Amino acid sequence: TDLSKIRNFSIVAHIDHGKSTLADRLIQETGTVKDRDMKAQLLDAMDIERERGITIKANTVRIDYKADDGQDYVLNLIDTPGHVDFAYEVSRSMRAVEGSLLVVDSTQGVEAQTLANVYQAIDADHEIVPVLNKIDLPASDCDRVAEQIEDVIGIDATGALQVSAKTGQGIRETLEAIVTQLPPPKGERDAPLKAMLVDSWYDSYLGVIVLVRIIDGVLKKGDRIRMMSNNSVHPVERIGVFRPQMEMIDELGPGEIGFLTASIKQVRDTRVGDTITTEKKGCEAALPGFKPSQPVVFCGLFPVDNAEFEDLRDAISKLSLNDASFSSEMETSAALGFGFRCGFLGLLHLEVIRDRLEREYDIDLITTAPSVIYQIYMRDGTVQELHNPADMPDLTFVDHIEEPRIKATILVPDEYLGDVLKLCQDRRGMQIDLTYAGSRAMVVYDLPLNEVVFDFYDRLKSVTKGYASFDYQMIGYREDHLVKMQVLVNDEPVDALSTMVHRDRAETRGRAMVEKLKDLIPRHMFKIPIQAAIGGKVIARETLSAMRKDVTAKCYGGDVSRKKKLLDKQKAGKKKMRQFGKVDIPQEAFISALKMD
Ligand code: GTP
Repeated sequence: TDLSKIRNFSIVAHIDHGKSTLADRLIQETGTVKDRDMKAQLLDAMDIERERGITIKANTVRIDYKADDGQDYVLNLIDTPGHVDFAYEVSRSMRAVEGSLLVVDSTQGVEAQTLANVYQAIDADHEIVPVLNKIDLPASDCDRVAEQIEDVIGIDATGALQVSAKTGQGIRETLEAIVTQLPPPKGERDAPLKAMLVDSWYDSYLGVIVLVRIIDGVLKKGDRIRMMSNNSVHPVERIGVFRPQMEMIDELGPGEIGFLTASIKQVRDTRVGDTITTEKKGCEAALPGFKPSQPVVFCGLFPVDNAEFEDLRDAISKLSLNDASFSSEMETSAALGFGFRCGFLGLLHLEVIRDRLEREYDIDLITTAPSVIYQIYMRDGTVQELHNPADMPDLTFVDHIEEPRIKATILVPDEYLGDVLKLCQDRRGMQIDLTYAGSRAMVVYDLPLNEVVFDFYDRLKSVTKGYASFDYQMIGYREDHLVKMQVLVNDEPVDALSTMVHRDRAETRGRAMVEKLKDLIPRHMFKIPIQAAIGGKVIARETLSAMRKDVTAKCYGGDVSRKKKLLDKQKAGKKKMRQFGKVDIPQEAFISALKMD
């Protein structure tokens, strides 16, 4: 295709502002998909994505469009993940296109992810077209939101498109704006092949599918391509585009976006952001800024039933094939038996993987407390990375400990500002900035990641009745007074409940944890002490008293079926318990005990 007839773009938006609906409309309006084949939310393929209403894997679609100037254009839309955990993937897909539609819900206004995503687009030098969506709703206020876009983001929004992705109003104008306002790609057809690896995933029929943006040169079937990060060579088997279903073609030229397959075994062998060239006569310099995405949050996954360990191993290795940013290694725990220590890009990523293991693979799991990576500076001058509080070395050998910090941006209506500041303060935050955009405050905090990974987002939502939006980026490591806190149940340490905490917070956290556990652990026939300790020193203690009567005593003898039901219920409850010494601890205790409220 002639470069001047190509437009490559992405859509940036806060969650729920209508990105997927708009993408579907653009596809439908151009007849890319026949109306009767049109399923709502075409681009969100996975069930979980649909259920949770979030887009995880970047998808792409090629749209043919006859513009008002009578010319035929090819529009390539790359769908970017909207969540903070996938910030690196967002930034790579942004570099693969020249422009963005900035979708803002005209009943809501700019939110934290609007900002985070649009800054990525600005960083990638995009031309940006503001789109005010949901104008069909009575609460829509385009003037106010346009003004807010100008104030907060600092881009011109006077000509912002007014759209209803629901009714189709303004869709034609949006397509015209893509053609007239976004620049065509640049590239040299005769230069050596240089392509960006935008995304990759595993398909059970075709194997690993690699989404590429051609910068220079031409990619042809049969080419032997080389990944510049590791010099691996693969013969190209298929080349194609998404419309949105796959369509095979023979070649991709400069400026084009499409996919290839090359009998690559695992997604791990392909790295987002890598440069692809040909084995012979390849390009000299790789694209700048390549870095593999690194897991930042770790937790242990153990089967509730030890007999399911092999199933868990299988399931994890299948999921890893398809997700290079998910890491796992075997772990044994005195209390939990065999399991895996897994690394994730963030909490959402963790939840998605855990959900898939439980639902798609039907494995009941115990998830241990999520932990970040600590840098342990030893007295002998070496530095260790600590992924699991259970592995914390003896303190006499430790010089100091550093923890990862984030810069968090929170947008919140005025009336909840006080609660948000208190929450951030409680989590050892340091305020960096506080500004206003209309009736909303924008708060920027430097926070320890460890205080955020667990339930910060849930707490934020609850103290603001769902009105706050949140986004973060990593900013580096800082030393602080951190200690490992252990929990002992019936005098036995339960390593799965070990956490790293700030020394000043240890008593409060320890007390909260033992109180919670006291409620979560059912009574036994004997007294059970529950303690929190730092290096052998007990800092909090509760005692769960012994059970007096059989539960069925409640049933006044008479009703047999009721009695049976109660016993069955007890049995079912048992299944989800794990034994620690002589004590049964229910599965949910591991997560609930760590929540701070
Ligand atoms: P994620 O994929 O979760 O990031 O969200 P999204 O930004 O893709 O939003 P999505 O397209 O899923 O839309 C969110 C909700 O808003 C859905 O219930 C849509 O039906 C609704 N919606 C989207 N566009 C419009 C619109 O123009 N008008 C109205 N009334 N509702 C809309």
